[in-house]
Amino acid sequence: MIFYFSGTGNSLYAAKNIAHYIGEELVSISAAENTGNELNEYNLREDEILGFIYPIYAWGPPKIVLEFIEKLKLSNYGENYVFSVATCGGSIGNTMKVMKGYLKKKGINLDSGFSVKMPNNYIMMGDVDSKEVEQEKLTAADETLKYINHTVEQRKAGEFRIEKGVFPWLLTDIINPMFNKNAINTTKFHVNDNCNGCGTCEKVCNCNNIKVHESPQWGSRCTQCLACVHYCPTKAIQYGKETEKKGRYTNPNISIDEISQGLKGWTDIN
Ligand SMILES: Cc1cc2nc3c(=O)[nH]c(=O)nc-3n(C[C@H](O)[C@H](O)[C@H](O)COP(=O)(O)O)c2cc1C
Repeated sequence: MIFYFSGTGNSLYAAKNIAHYIGEELVSISAAENTGNELNEYNLREDEILGFIYPIYAWGPPKIVLEFIEKLKLSNYGENYVFSVATCGGSIGNTMKVMKGYLKKKGINLDSGFSVKMPNNYIMMGDVDSKEVEQEKLTAADETLKYINHTVEQRKAGEFRIEKGVFPWLLTDIINPMFNKNAINTTKFHVNDNCNGCGTCEKVCNCNNIKVHESPQWGSRCTQCLACVHYCPTKAIQYGKETEKKGRYTNPNISIDEISQGLKGWTDIN
């Protein structure tokens, strides 16, 4: 069973690739969290591999992923192999340590962890990658995924192939909590005159937090995945003034329908 969360398709691409290779089912973390259930309950097969795949937000796992784990209740967890993959624009700090800690509290042992560098979608500071860098990262990511697939298939434990970046403790222990506390402010989302009320943002919102009447209205439940900003076909959605002159990125191998069907609990991996 592969639990995934993805804003702009990179992590879904990685999750699909791995799920297909090892023959495991994909389960959307957002779909589970949007049910509002108190527990996320799953029944494991004896030999089932368990994966957690998500993007990095300020050198940590997205809050929604950690909340999902806090509510996780696995029946029949025993000798199951458990791995985690973080997709990122550059580095992941001590994210795997955080994941190990959250999983340990649920009695789950994280056997291996990996980071996969993919095109950047964080445009509040900085910008998307150039088309050239985007292509280089996507090509290199496929190679990294091959390595992950072989490692996971062989259930190798103690493999932590990760790009931590410099001063990972500073990034994860100091900057990440500041980001989680202060950076997510849905009142800053707005649209310009390009908005035609098409409803794409509502379809791709990971938190069921957008309702489109003539134009989108945001509620308060947001993880800042930026799916609404990047998938908007007319580039109408902005966050403050930060995104006006920035590029947009969505994974070229993942369609809007795949993102939105996933949010409804879709599990087809082909
Ligand atoms: C709010 C936010 C914060 C981010 N922080 C980081 C970061 O700390 N380090 C990094 O390398 N990439 C960072 N990124 C980039 C994403 O992790 C990266 O583009 C990821 O592959 C996106 O995955 P997705 O397409 O599945 O959403 C950030 C992106 C967002 C939206």
